[in-house]
Amino acid sequence: MTTILVTGATGRVGRHVVQGLLDAGVSVRALVRSPLFAGLPVDVEVVHGDIYDPAAVERAASGVDAAFLLWPSYSAEGAGDVVAALTKQVSRVVYLSSLNVADEDPAASGVWGEIELLLSDADWTFLRPGGFMVNTQEWADEFRTGDVVRMPSPGAGRSLIHERDIAAVAVLALLNDKHIGQTYRLTGPEVLTQAEQVAVLGEAIGKSVRVQEQSAEEVRRAMVEQGVDPNFADGALAYWASLIDTPEPVTSDVESLLGRPALTFREWAEEHADEFRVRTRGLR
Ligand SMILES: NC(=O)c1ccc[n+]([C@@H]2O[C@H](COP(=O)([O-])OP(=O)(O)OC[C@H]3O[C@@H](n4cnc5c(N)ncnc54)[C@H](OP(=O)(O)O)[C@@H]3O)[C@@H](O)[C@H]2O)c1
Repeated sequence: MTTILVTGATGRVGRHVVQGLLDAGVSVRALVRSPLFAGLPVDVEVVHGDIYDPAAVERAASGVDAAFLLWPSYSAEGAGDVVAALTKQVSRVVYLSSLNVADEDPAASGVWGEIELLLSDADWTFLRPGGFMVNTQEWADEFRTGDVVRMPSPGAGRSLIHERDIAAVAVLALLNDKHIGQTYRLTGPEVLTQAEQVAVLGEAIGKSVRVQEQSAEEVRRAMVEQGVDPNFADGALAYWASLIDTPEPVTSDVESLLGRPALTFREWAEEHADEFRVRTRGLR
């Protein structure tokens, strides 16, 4: 029986990848660092280990047919040894990269491009998604506690993608060799400004919420305090500002691969509305 190794299995994309693979009837092995808290379906073979430990990755990849790889760091330090350990066991790797990677110069595109290059001798498929819809959960507290959401660049136009669409493409790629050597640029079906995303969320929960622009300096300080790499924070802020005049592209890869339109932000907002609502206690 086909067995697929999933890294990042407890994450926002990985959980959907695991479920999609189980639904397809294949065996799933997950590399997790806290098996007790993984909360994965009982059918998943959970292997304890750290993705930054090449020996753990090599053990986890032993005997699998393909691997879903994500690299949960802003730095590619140590990735060479990990990719070597992984591909010693399994050549077929579907890597969760980023739309930021430029074909002309992947190495200059940050950690995602560096890892794509490390995989160049493998039987790779690169998934390059844009921003995830789930990132908007960062506004959930403000939705619950007030009627103002603060952010930099409210006019930034984004083609956010539903994480379930990324996972659905990953499952296809993991189960069919015709995707070897393919790079997929994955986006949602439309561009919405960040202010429009807030309006859609407000409609989904039935609450009118205002957007207030935050200065780049304030946001940078908060990001760095939360442990975000300062260079990454600078890059992200400049990128969001650039999207006011040059919104993100919308690609057709999700629709052509899945045979249905990409999921909309409205669908995501309706699925996740409860996370943005004030939590009320039930009456006894
Ligand atoms: N968010 C975006 O807009 C966006 C856009 C393009 C690309 N990406 C890329 O997508 C990836 C993140 O995907 P995601 O949002 O699905 O992940 P996520 O929800 O952030 O979860 C990270 C996953 O990685 C696991 N992990 C973290 N450190 C680990 C370690 N040392 N050893 C083993 N596992 C470890 C976590 O496991 P635990 O349960 O142990 O924490 C979790 O399963 C990143 O590579 C990011 O660069 C994100």
